[in-house]
Amino acid sequence: MIERAVAHIDLGAIERNCGRIRAELRGKTKLCVVVKANAYGHGDTWCAKAALAGGADWLAVATTAEAVELRRHGIEPPLLVMGALTFEDARAALEAPADVVAWEPEFAEALAAAADSAGVTGRVHIKLDSGMGRLGTKDPEQALAVADIVAEAEHLELVGLMTHFATADAQGDDYFPHQLRAFTDFVGRFRARYPAVIVHAANSPGTFRDASSHFDMVRCGVAVYGLDPFQEDAQARGLVPALSLHSFVGAVRHFGQGESAGYGRSWAAERPTYVATIPIGYGDGWRRAFTNNADVLIGGRRYPLVGTVSMDNITVDLGPDTDVQPGDEAILIGGDGGERITAEELAGRIDTINYEITCGLSPRVRRHWSSP
Ligand SMILES: Cc1ncc(COP(=O)(O)O)c(C=O)c1O
Repeated sequence: MIERAVAHIDLGAIERNCGRIRAELRGKTKLCVVVKANAYGHGDTWCAKAALAGGADWLAVATTAEAVELRRHGIEPPLLVMGALTFEDARAALEAPADVVAWEPEFAEALAAAADSAGVTGRVHIKLDSGMGRLGTKDPEQALAVADIVAEAEHLELVGLMTHFATADAQGDDYFPHQLRAFTDFVGRFRARYPAVIVHAANSPGTFRDASSHFDMVRCGVAVYGLDPFQEDAQARGLVPALSLHSFVGAVRHFGQGESAGYGRSWAAERPTYVATIPIGYGDGWRRAFTNNADVLIGGRRYPLVGTVSMDNITVDLGPDTDVQPGDEAILIGGDGGERITAEELAGRIDTINYEITCGLSPRVRRHWSSP
């Protein structure tokens, strides 16, 4: 069925991508699939279920609301809320139930109190900031002190030790090995005191880049969705892009030389031509930066987006001879025949990353999930 703006999500691809990631891991290493931000725009509940069918052991999100939503849909495996939390959100996460991350003594004390009063056992991971410069403590002594608070609290359980890499995707850089060394040194000390803890660090690029970053579990998001962790070609890495974005040709009109399309007249026909209007725009997350800077597939051929992207429409130059008709399907992300437009291509055009292309698709884009 042709629709105005629909993202098709291939759940079989999500399953297979989990298998592809698993092939990088030693037998005992666990796979935690990151489904935050509505599974990078792909639909969190559906993707979580597909990932679990594909061999994921754990799930991770950024916020308590995301964790509560997954539990509401009956998703039971271990679930980690990775983000910074207010005390209220932390308490709600423990009740969800979901694991939380701590690195400040005061926060650990508050978790202990919340777990006592809620009558739950709060599961806690300690975060060392080994160089990301965002969340976690930079001080190894503090990480150990917070772990001690958690371990001694009656209703808290010390579950994990984690860090996050800043440059795993910058292949060949020397900061990633530096972070990995710093964290590995600390893991030795931490494990001497708490041997049962689950140690995790690698995101998707770390997972593909260096097996010594895997520890007990990897936390993969982008690769699960078939997006390339290094902004290269996901398919060449054996990953299958799960999302394709479709619209349709709403109108085809003839333009004389000099006639312009869209706001600001950023494009005008240099020769007589046909222009298609496709009813998708920045209100759908189709970024305004694609103005005169993207291609669209219609009938298996690439056509250039011309004119300014508006909230609800884009325009495409079909050339002077065309058999494109109103009602034809238009593919903005995905393949048709031998041609394909990837999130990596689009990201490269507007100086962003594939993550932002799929995360940015707005709720106005209907999601359609196909079973494996
Ligand atoms: C703490 C943390 N771990 C893991 C991930 C997953 O990263 P990726 O999507 O690169 O696999 C993220 C996502 O940004 C994250 O914030």
